Amino acid sequence: MDLLIHIVQLAYLAAAILFVFALSGLSSNKSAQRGNRAGITGMTIAVSATIVLALASEPPRGIIATILLIAVAMLAGAGIGIWKAQRVEMTGMPELIALLHSFVGLAAVLVGYNSFLHPDALAQSLGGFHLGEVFLGIFIGAVTFTGSVVAFLKLSGKISGAPLTLPHRNLLNLLLIVISAGLMVWFIAVGHSVDAWIPLGVMTALALLLGWHLVAAIGGGDMPVVVSMLNSYSGWAAAAAGFMLNNELLIITGALVGSSGAYLSYIMCRAMNRSFISVILGGFGTDTSSAPTGDEEVGEYREIDAAGTAELLKNSRKVMITPGYGMAVAQAQYPVAELTKALRERGVDVTFGIHPVAGRLPGHMNVLLAEARVPYDVVKEMDEVNDDFGDIDTVLVIGANDTVNPAAEEPGSPIAGMPVLKVWEAGNVIVFKRSMATGYAGVQNPLFFKDNTQMLFGDAKASVEAILRAL
Ligand code: TAP
Repeated sequence: MDLLIHIVQLAYLAAAILFVFALSGLSSNKSAQRGNRAGITGMTIAVSATIVLALASEPPRGIIATILLIAVAMLAGAGIGIWKAQRVEMTGMPELIALLHSFVGLAAVLVGYNSFLHPDALAQSLGGFHLGEVFLGIFIGAVTFTGSVVAFLKLSGKISGAPLTLPHRNLLNLLLIVISAGLMVWFIAVGHSVDAWIPLGVMTALALLLGWHLVAAIGGGDMPVVVSMLNSYSGWAAAAAGFMLNNELLIITGALVGSSGAYLSYIMCRAMNRSFISVILGGFGTDTSSAPTGDEEVGEYREIDAAGTAELLKNSRKVMITPGYGMAVAQAQYPVAELTKALRERGVDVTFGIHPVAGRLPGHMNVLLAEARVPYDVVKEMDEVNDDFGDIDTVLVIGANDTVNPAAEEPGSPIAGMPVLKVWEAGNVIVFKRSMATGYAGVQNPLFFKDNTQMLFGDAKASVEAILRAL
């Protein structure tokens, strides 16, 4: 048995190293497949080693019953996972991810209760320390659970995406955390007695409330940060479960997910010029409750048709394409790739300007363009192109709205301070969308009413196909 434990520990170490390779591979388009393969191999090793260890350690229900239980759980999980993965639209990914995070949170809560009810020998020897692990694990898990459920409901439009701004909301959050800390002292002091259920139960209810309130207070453009922040919380919840189960691999994996999620949130906050602390504390220090919704029209707009756009493109030297969520909805990336090819063959210099939060999940546009085989070297990040618009003849804004909204430069606007692509500095701007409706943040876009802007109404895919025909 000792030898087996050593082998399993080695397998865990190998899996942990593969997870680090997976994360580093996923940091660029070119190495993403390699990263995914490393992750799959690591997870296969991890799951196999865990099953072998579970079977070898004389399970209380007997080997056959344990194999059956594991098989049923794995088949059900894999079945639901494959069914969901085949059906989910790219645009529905953030809400699916939010829902999956809620399962991690719920799992941490259940592991915590189980570990309190049936502590193993090691847990018993740890005494108060183990009780602290249980308490923290349930706390983080419960916050993650309701936070993720609210994020899912907001992102899928089942509840309003507007921030809930209760008076003294930050004080309320602080109060819930301070009361929970007091309950933790009580819980550890009474130990494994019946009385311990009171602080544990009350804390669980408070943590569920805290998770719900933290995410309910965040709205509009900050939601992408919330999804990656919940990713981070789910990592810490898994790490806490790892402590309770005495499983080093779960601790390492949880820490990897927790810290990479937190770092991604930090990068996104920087890209949106938001304070990281203010976003994770549920909009701390921001009060948009009285800000105007700004959905009224602000002037006259001009229209153009596909033939006119084709003519404009033929006469352009430099073209920049700034895609957004609408390109994903219309699945216009394939004709967009064809248009890029056709223009490049005519000697037009075509580049893409990608906003860090264009679409509905980090890297959304990059994935779509890679899928349609747009060459990587013409796809540039916002910071690389934002000073170049003055030199561009024609910008095609394909299904983007908030990410090209000059209102972000106006103080008082709900998206004030968010860096945007300065498309209006180009010679001509063509906006592809179906109507004058606002974007995700619900803010009217003064770009549509500028002298050098023309609207090309219609589904983005149909419009790009019509331009291709006219070319
Ligand atoms: P949005 O501001 O969401 O605007 C998308 C535009 O696409 C809409 O105005 C819509 O106008 C148009 N559209 C929709 N379907 C279309 C179709 N079939 N054909 C043509 N146009 C279509 O897009 P964005 O500029 O990409 O900005 C992203 C927003 O989402 C930001 O506010 C961001 O904070 C938020 N967000 C981002 C993420 C991440 S991580 N990327 C996650 C969650 C939220 P019509 O209805 O008039 O067609």
